[in-house]
Amino acid sequence: SNIENGSVKWASPSNIALVKYWGKKKHQIPENPSISFTLSDCKTITEITYTKKQEKGFSFDIYFEGEKHEAFKPKIQTFFERIEIYMPFLKDYHFKIETSNTFPHSSGIASSASGMSAIALCLMSIENKLSVNKSDSEASQDYFNQKASFLARLGSGSACRSIEGELVVWGKNESMVDSSDLYGVKFEGDVHANFNNYQDTILLVDKGEKQVSSTVGHQLMYGHPFAQERFGQAHVNLAKLKAILASGDLNEFIKIVESEALTLHAMMMTSMPYFILMKPNTLEIINKIWAFREKTDSKVCFTLDAGANVHVLYPENEKETVLEFIKKDLTKYCQNEHFICDQIGQGANQI
Ligand code: PMV
Repeated sequence: SNIENGSVKWASPSNIALVKYWGKKKHQIPENPSISFTLSDCKTITEITYTKKQEKGFSFDIYFEGEKHEAFKPKIQTFFERIEIYMPFLKDYHFKIETSNTFPHSSGIASSASGMSAIALCLMSIENKLSVNKSDSEASQDYFNQKASFLARLGSGSACRSIEGELVVWGKNESMVDSSDLYGVKFEGDVHANFNNYQDTILLVDKGEKQVSSTVGHQLMYGHPFAQERFGQAHVNLAKLKAILASGDLNEFIKIVESEALTLHAMMMTSMPYFILMKPNTLEIINKIWAFREKTDSKVCFTLDAGANVHVLYPENEKETVLEFIKKDLTKYCQNEHFICDQIGQGANQI
């Protein structure tokens, strides 16, 4: 291609898994299928400016919230090395990557899903601009999203679930014919109106660096005594969740979602070495949520990722009462009383 330069920009959201991905094979192939809600407001916004250069080789700079950020470089370098065979133009251009998050950094919210998916989408847009004669199938929206998800997976596994909304499945499984280990696909089943605008309020219990990186975390599943049982369970839970999403049975939804969160943590507690990633305040919050459900007919529940923060999930029609409960009983367990209100979203947007 003889295009010399240009720029592209994407906003890509975070996502929260309902059935968790924990454990992977070579090449970022998941050991089990997972499904997530795409979020709406927690996003990474990334602009990539590309300039043609003479010498071949990877060349890029990263700016995070306006400042040059050397710490991200090795991750991006590894990512570029992994995807180069699918993006042959990578060595012919210099890339200026400018990125920022809509959520505060050091909030303990994983930005790898939104961050890696945003870069993958920008690179796809650049590929489109540089290639003059794509076949019809390569020019389609489906191809674009699928390849963006495929690339995002190679940056961070869960990032492949951030391209589209509102529910995305990643990992080959019996419940979904179109599912793949290589990229995320939109959940293809029926979704009951109970899940419209489902809410996720993120309680920031611990804003510090992750105690265990997800790379280390996934490795803990090698030779883990309960690994095979867990991987099988994820298939069963995904099948159950598919039926629950169709029926709208929120009591059953709660059981799967909370059990998945605790199982993820149970895996870390029973690995070698072992970790406890919950904090005392994580448990306080879980107990308060259970007590609130006991005394009201609320369908609020929690989920966790690989850290101490709590995602509080609830139907839109409970927004007022649950937010009142959160402010009264839960924010005291958050660092600086900090929480973020989000909800299920539609996926990434080009800007
Ligand atoms: O995408 P990774 O490698 O950071 O793994 C994320 C794993 C969990 O967030 C704990 C679960 C999930 O499915 O998102």
